[in-house]
Amino acid sequence: MSEAKKLFIKTYGCQMNVYDSERMAEAMGAQGYVTTENAEEADMVLLNTCHIREKAAEKVYSDLGRLRPLKQAKPGMKIGVAGCVAQAEGAEILRRMPLVDLVVGPQSYHRLPEMLTRTGNGAQVIDTDFPAEDKFDHLPERKALRGPSAFLTVQEGCDKFCAFCVVPYTRGAEVSRPAQRLLSEARALVEKGVRDITLLGQNVNAYHGDGWGLARLIRELARIEGLQRIRYMTSHPNDMEDDLVAAHGDEPKLMPYLHLPVQSGSDRILKAMNRKHTAEQYLRLIERIRAARPDILLTSDFIVGFPGETDADFEATMSLVRAVGYGAAYTFKYSARPGTPAAEKPELPAEVADARLQALQALITRQQRAAQEAMVGREVGVLYDKPGRLPGQMVGKSDHLHAVHVTDPEGQVGQLVRVRITASSTNSLAAELARA
Ligand code: 5AD
Ligand code: SF4
Repeated sequence: MSEAKKLFIKTYGCQMNVYDSERMAEAMGAQGYVTTENAEEADMVLLNTCHIREKAAEKVYSDLGRLRPLKQAKPGMKIGVAGCVAQAEGAEILRRMPLVDLVVGPQSYHRLPEMLTRTGNGAQVIDTDFPAEDKFDHLPERKALRGPSAFLTVQEGCDKFCAFCVVPYTRGAEVSRPAQRLLSEARALVEKGVRDITLLGQNVNAYHGDGWGLARLIRELARIEGLQRIRYMTSHPNDMEDDLVAAHGDEPKLMPYLHLPVQSGSDRILKAMNRKHTAEQYLRLIERIRAARPDILLTSDFIVGFPGETDADFEATMSLVRAVGYGAAYTFKYSARPGTPAAEKPELPAEVADARLQALQALITRQQRAAQEAMVGREVGVLYDKPGRLPGQMVGKSDHLHAVHVTDPEGQVGQLVRVRITASSTNSLAAELARA
């Protein structure tokens, strides 16, 4: 028997891409491919790309350039480009990079195995359709998973059209998956040992499959025995319905963690960004969420240096951050994305944006430390992902998604324990088992 073929996938960008990469690996697995961590031994290399910020496409082209000697040494090697750069650049990739065998968009990757059969002898194959059929109906069932945590895509695409963002163009319009399908997929995951599910969507809280909102879906998922934790990301403030806020207060399996990007604290900039909410509305929403779940850990995304952002606008962002007190946040310097409305506007000088980015990052880092330190002495749940580096130690995620090292010689991967946090270091917490 011949050896299994090897697939190397490099994943860029968001959690949705991490999820898509797993599903593509499974689709290729059904064709006899096993994954490898080493591109050099691969029979197929797949770059699952992200287009959200600047230089994304250029990075992909330079990564492809670096694959050239590998392919020259191993002429049968296949190279594929998937994800949002594939969607946005399309045939341009094939033109610029003759070594690429196939280009596949985020909505058509269930066709990957079939596309692969059409490659060879220099034939280049492309599929960036938004097909009528649902890719999830055509993908193999989820395999055994690596740890107790899994992603589950419940919604894709976005109809919000924030002025800076390519997602509505690369991922397409909002589509929710049928609720019953998601419940049976979640049950299957739990049977395979999953204890913790993060529901994914570009606009996940706009979920409306089978007439259910996200809150209803979460409540039904919570009834699955053996499933212990539920989270969801990424949400838009305008889609935080009352029943979802309420679920944070009364659904114990819904973890006290919420990623709720605001992007800016200036109403003028929010308007220019087409966010359709004010800073005040966001702050009121945070109050309601905290009233429902006082210990919730909040995270956000911020863009600094959006066209037209003044010192006063930036100061408004800093004061919103101070008012909220985040557990963590991603901070980005604005970068013009071709085809988006904001790309038409003049950009700020790079030094101005850089200085603002640094100031915001420093504030966020302080808040992140403070949030971690505030955990010391508290009791929380931890779900073990893996053994720690020291003997008798386990590593896992807390309810609030902090990485926690626990001294627990009897600990098992997949076990959910109660711990008392004893110390906070830069990127993790230390804990001991809580006494019953
Ligand atoms: N420039 C900078 N950051 C961006 N993001 C999206 N588009 C851009 C852009 N053009 C950020 C937003 C979004 C996150 C995923 O990426 O903050 O929430
Ligand atoms: Fe992009 Fe805005 Fe949609 Fe988020 S809500 S994916 S930032 S357009």
